[in-house]
Amino acid sequence: MDKTVVVTGAGGTLCSVVAVDFARRGYRVALVGRTLEKLERTAETIRSEGGRCCCLTADVTDEAAVQDVRERVHAAFGPCSILINGAGGNQSDAVTTVNEFDPREQEPLHEGLRGFFDLDMAKFRSVLETNTMGTVIPSRVFAGDMVGLGGGSIVNFASMNTYRPLSRVPAYAMAKAGVSNFTQWLAAYLAPAGIRVNAVAPGFFVNERSRRLLTRPDGGLTSRGEHIIYNTPMHRFGEAAELVGCIRWLTDDEAAGFVTGVTVPVDGGFLSSPGL
Ligand SMILES: NC(=O)c1ccc[n+]([C@@H]2O[C@H](COP(=O)([O-])OP(=O)(O)OC[C@H]3O[C@@H](n4cnc5c(N)ncnc54)[C@H](OP(=O)(O)O)[C@@H]3O)[C@@H](O)[C@H]2O)c1
Repeated sequence: MDKTVVVTGAGGTLCSVVAVDFARRGYRVALVGRTLEKLERTAETIRSEGGRCCCLTADVTDEAAVQDVRERVHAAFGPCSILINGAGGNQSDAVTTVNEFDPREQEPLHEGLRGFFDLDMAKFRSVLETNTMGTVIPSRVFAGDMVGLGGGSIVNFASMNTYRPLSRVPAYAMAKAGVSNFTQWLAAYLAPAGIRVNAVAPGFFVNERSRRLLTRPDGGLTSRGEHIIYNTPMHRFGEAAELVGCIRWLTDDEAAGFVTGVTVPVDGGFLSSPGL
């Protein structure tokens, strides 16, 4: 496969597996994230299987840094045909510890309780920035390559929060709704350039951060974890490998050649759950 793929968040739980899958199919894969060690772990797997990849550190919200990544991708592998915007996530100081307003929030000392009024606005902004501008900036930078190639494909990462905000995660929910909206906007805008833009909306996949929210040290589930499993008709969390087929399809110009502007849930039925 004579194509270059750029995967942001390639050191993470989901996109490390996505990156390895592209490499297995013969693509040249540029692995992007802020921490070299995480990227190197993914690169080790790819190289041990004879795949081609390079590790490029950058913050995806920094346009100059992403432009620099583009130059380094060109030098290593040539222009980008496929962009996977996987970098993203939440931060604990932008998350409430209660599902709804608690009058104790108004008391001067309420240790152990973080309500909406306690949220750190700098962290709130950072979550918005990472998930929204961290999708917009690489799209703008690498779509330039795809215009030159006469076409290409972008896949963004939405969430169950895209459809309806889940409790406790206002910044993340707002941002992921924005990702899906931007996916539609960019799909319509870039269609004349032959560039398709779609998104996947993963249901619940355990990663390093969510492990603490969803599972207890003894391996059992927290009450939030139990609620999620109860409301997921398949009654389990997803496995990263289960996202790969959807991304293969969305980035295949034959199989999905007329598909653009969609957000595809991969969620074990969570969106279809009656919730009763
Ligand atoms: N896991 C789920 O259940 C789930 C559900 C719905 C949506 N998603 C979305 O799917 C994507 C991947 O999630 P994941 O579970 O694989 O999370 P993850 O394991 O935390 O991986 C995310 C990766 O993004 C990188 N990253 C974060 N901010 C960045 C920035 N500003 N610049 C560059 N890289 C950055 C992180 O690496 P560095 O910190 O080294 O930069 C990390 O390796 C995210 O967009 C997430 O919001 C996940």
